[in-house]
Amino acid sequence: MDKTKNILITGGAGYIGSHIVEALTKTKNNIFIIDNLSTGFKKLINKKAFFFDLNILNTKKIRKIILTNQIDSVIHLAASVSIGAGEKYPKIYFRNNVTGTINLLNACKNSSVKNFIFSSTAAIYKDGQKIVNENSKISPKSVYGKTKLKAEKQIITICKKNKINYSILRYFNVCGASLSGKIGLIGKGDHLFKNISSSVIKKKPIIKIYGNNYNTSDGTTIRDYIHVSDLANIHLEVLRKISEDARKYKLNSKKISKNKFFEISYNDKGEMELIFNEKHSFFSQYNKLEKKEKKLIENILISFGQSMEIFDNEDKVVVSDLQEILIQNWANILNNYVKENK
Ligand SMILES: NC(=O)c1ccc[n+]([C@@H]2O[C@H](COP(=O)([O-])OP(=O)(O)OC[C@H]3O[C@@H](n4cnc5c(N)ncnc54)[C@H](O)[C@@H]3O)[C@@H](O)[C@H]2O)c1
Repeated sequence: MDKTKNILITGGAGYIGSHIVEALTKTKNNIFIIDNLSTGFKKLINKKAFFFDLNILNTKKIRKIILTNQIDSVIHLAASVSIGAGEKYPKIYFRNNVTGTINLLNACKNSSVKNFIFSSTAAIYKDGQKIVNENSKISPKSVYGKTKLKAEKQIITICKKNKINYSILRYFNVCGASLSGKIGLIGKGDHLFKNISSSVIKKKPIIKIYGNNYNTSDGTTIRDYIHVSDLANIHLEVLRKISEDARKYKLNSKKISKNKFFEISYNDKGEMELIFNEKHSFFSQYNKLEKKEKKLIENILISFGQSMEIFDNEDKVVVSDLQEILIQNWANILNNYVKENK
């Protein structure tokens, strides 16, 4: 996380937010929390963080905090989160989760904010899919899920337009408490893991598990859980990745070092595009190609750029390595293309 310094967390006095703040206190970042304590708790607010009792709807005050403290990254968790309450009070849910997100994003525009992480939910997926990933069918059933999906769309549009790196995490059920023993799940009476813990310490001898006609060995449903501390660390990793990627891609920089052949940038529509180094010797070769061949090469380079975005962390490839690979294979790519198109 070398590239981040001042991080703002909305909902930092809540269950997940307090765990992310705790994880962040082990880094060198300054931490700023915005929370209106509607479902959060004063006792969950970490003493090492700066706290603002504020509603995310208040664009003006948030913007002031961002500008005064040179916030570079926002982790947005503040939301109304109960599925049941969402069905009862849809207007409140849309206002808090969708308008709240838009107002927060508006406060980030044209500021020091470079990175934005959003807590979304698996509740946006269509029911009945066994395994889900980014490409699975989306069709939220609940009002809560619908508000989160709308917020996702706003984040994508506004962040792309304003050149803010963003990441959206769709969590499943979160459970557990920090090993520090200082924070944990408070206030959520009906959480299965909370009930199990209470039962272990004999505060609540009977636990009810609902559902008996699912296609499982005991008829109860399968549930997915993630430990809250793992989730907190994932946020730190994601933040590190999106902030460092920006350095690798040199977003919007029109200056290319002289030994690089190309660089990937984003245009105003948020699409990836290539900027060629016209001084590079390969540029003269590229220039001799037919329009169709040029397009082919551009597509290959861009697709490498996109896959790098996903795999960069494991593979440790950077733009300059890829250029080498591509340049070495340049002749083969073209030869094959010419053969296929004869
Ligand atoms: N807990 C889960 O299992 C789970 C699963 C998927 C997604 N999420 C998402 O994670 C995020 C955090 O959830 P949580 O479980 O920690 O809930 P939480 O209720 O403990 O935390 C939410 C925090 O946001 C604050 N808040 C709400 N509205 C606000 C507003 N308008 N202005 C300022 N602060 C406001 C609350 O006071 C609270 O501290 C939410 O966005 C939720 O949708 C949680």
